[in-house]
Amino acid sequence: MSDIEKLASDYLAQIESAANVEALEDIRVRALGKKGEISTLLKTLGKMTPEERQTEGPRINGAREQVATAIANRKAAMEDALLNEKLAAEAIDLTLPAPETPQGSVHPVAQVMDELAEIFADLGFSVAEGPEIEDDWRNFTALNIPETHPARAMHDTFYFDDRDNEGQQMLLRTHTSPVQIRTMMDQEPPIRIIAPGRTYRSDSDATHTPMFHQVEGLVIDKGIHMGHLKWTLETFVRAFFERDDVELRLRPSYFPFTEPSAEVDVGFSVEKGKRVIGGDPNSENGGWMEILGSGMVNRKVIENCGLDPDIWQGFAFGCGIDRLAMLKYGMHDLRAFFDGDLRWLKHYGFSALDVPTLSGGVGA
Ligand code: PHE
Repeated sequence: MSDIEKLASDYLAQIESAANVEALEDIRVRALGKKGEISTLLKTLGKMTPEERQTEGPRINGAREQVATAIANRKAAMEDALLNEKLAAEAIDLTLPAPETPQGSVHPVAQVMDELAEIFADLGFSVAEGPEIEDDWRNFTALNIPETHPARAMHDTFYFDDRDNEGQQMLLRTHTSPVQIRTMMDQEPPIRIIAPGRTYRSDSDATHTPMFHQVEGLVIDKGIHMGHLKWTLETFVRAFFERDDVELRLRPSYFPFTEPSAEVDVGFSVEKGKRVIGGDPNSENGGWMEILGSGMVNRKVIENCGLDPDIWQGFAFGCGIDRLAMLKYGMHDLRAFFDGDLRWLKHYGFSALDVPTLSGGVGA
């Protein structure tokens, strides 16, 4: 083996056993750097005779080539190994449970119920509840809707086959008004309650679902009149829509359980091409939209609950919660409320930590 071949094979052995990229670089400098051993040999070619150069040239260049290629290969192998190590260390274990990022959201209906409770609590109302499976007497008869009353047909009631222990026809409540009866029979007046909850009617299209939500309001005290009703609704609607310029219109109407009865409209107007609750309903493209039914509690209903209607009077109202949510938060198809589509819930849902407060704006 010539000196050059020995030199080359020495370097090849060193390259093979180099521990890391730095050691490799050190070898490269010693062999092929400006003052490296092989570079120095290459420089001797200039002083050789043409004959010597013809034999030495290919040998020295061959050695340089061999060493340079070996270094490049070994370096690539080392870098590959490093990358593999890094990838292995960074691998994600998909069988681990997901990290604890906030999941889920508050449904717009739940949000609106919280907003209602907040607004009415500020007016001294407490929240009352009643069962969704109700009896015929509380849902209808006690509310002055006797068996033959046409209003029964209007309610598209879901009836149960079975009767309860007292032989009562059971049904899914068609409105939250039976909570009026329950409250007046359970509590001494004065009474100030709201009762939000689920209600049922056999009805289904873009604006009706067989299950929907209502909130009932009931005030029973001495000397209550329509003025109290109007002020309460006005205060509620302005707080709910977060605008002081929402106008109310009371239209004479009929409900068996209130006398007189009024349907209540809110004024809307068009701002920046969008319909908003509030503003001047008489302006261009403005108008009125019905949001609830109300009236003075019929004295027959007060009597049915064992109270003296010559002492106690009051007002009541009932309002669709889903519709309130649609108007406030700009949703169009009621059916989407109950589809359970996660994309819809993500889009319209509220953060669980966004608790409505009057000071923070109830819909914040
Ligand atoms: N219960 C009525 C309905 O469902 C609404 C209402 C409640 C009207 C209270 C007057 C008083 O349509």
